[in-house]
Amino acid sequence: VIKMADLDLAGKRVLIRQDLNVPLKSGVVADGTRIHASLATINLALEKGAKVMIMSHLGRPTEGEYEHKYSLAPVANYLSALLEKPVRLEQNWLEPDFIPVEVGEVVLCENVRFNIGEKANNDDLAKRMAKMCDVFVMDAFGTAHRAQASTHGIAKYATTVCAGPLLSAELEALSKALDNPARPMVAIVGGSKVSTKLTVLETLSKKVDQLIVGGGIANTFIAAAGHNVGKSLYEPDLIDTCKKLSAEAVSRGGNIPVPKDVVCGKHFAENAEAELKAVDKVTDDDMIFDIGPKSAAELVEIIKQAGTVVWNGPLGVFEFSQFGEGTKEIAMAIAESDAFSIAGGGDTLAAVSKYKICDDVSYISTGGGAFLEFLEGKKLPAVEILEQRALE
Ligand code: 3PG
Repeated sequence: VIKMADLDLAGKRVLIRQDLNVPLKSGVVADGTRIHASLATINLALEKGAKVMIMSHLGRPTEGEYEHKYSLAPVANYLSALLEKPVRLEQNWLEPDFIPVEVGEVVLCENVRFNIGEKANNDDLAKRMAKMCDVFVMDAFGTAHRAQASTHGIAKYATTVCAGPLLSAELEALSKALDNPARPMVAIVGGSKVSTKLTVLETLSKKVDQLIVGGGIANTFIAAAGHNVGKSLYEPDLIDTCKKLSAEAVSRGGNIPVPKDVVCGKHFAENAEAELKAVDKVTDDDMIFDIGPKSAAELVEIIKQAGTVVWNGPLGVFEFSQFGEGTKEIAMAIAESDAFSIAGGGDTLAAVSKYKICDDVSYISTGGGAFLEFLEGKKLPAVEILEQRALE
């Protein structure tokens, strides 16, 4: 894949696809992590003397309609403050009356998903986008699993295409962790459901030396080990699948540890009382919201030995502090470990920021769905097309 850093961009119209799909609250950016992560790419393009255009999606608006709540206006303001220069937000950037970008100027194209054909990867739309630039830079790792007009289609038709620094960094870090990991390799997969992460669990369990499960996923493993999980979130239909995954781990000489102690509540609420219990003492009216200190200590030992750690998904309901200790212990262990560590996914990043370990994780991915698909071993279509174009 050709890298943006290697190209001469002086005076060129450079269109950068970024993932600026950030959470908003009352019309302002609530978490600007993805915008910060994109900044170096924009600055590099400016330094190289480019006419910079940026495109991104935000949320999932109805196609073909302008919906104010999905406008990138708050992102334009945030970006403008970071860059310390105006950012022109352009709704009609694909229309003939679009005023061309000057060298040194930054234009943010309005939400690409307002366009009919974006999600369907329509060829005509992709060609119109391609005509707007001399160089197309794919830098949206977080959207690289989507074959859409602004991520995939445009890369077929733009004169020159390349990978931006953020995309390159993400791919390098993930490949380092997954393709040639320092051993032992430990993967921590938490979150609410086995079903949404089944392929990730299946793929990683074959690759890693130790798989650790957490959250609602662990609850289904607890049930599979024959324990009562009371009213906890779990998936009865996947008990057999969890039994199979555990048996396979044992046949490879390892295991998938089931928590020995758990922290329960009677209802899902910020003020719910936390009760520490041995895993075999959970009653019918209990909900498991976290792992207990014994289980956490066992996992911390495993993380201490690791050469590589891949983390996706919290171990408990960490947004309520009485159920956050398990996730916190694991976060701290990752922060203190010398292993090459990678964390990704929305909830995981919220935990990383809550426990202030951002600077202690080797690489923090901006991808949610894309990060999971990479862990599943899937090819990302927006990266594949760059590879194909590089062979021309
Ligand atoms: C994400 O937040 O995972 C990406 O921006 C992709 O968004 P999407 O799932 O709406 O395609």
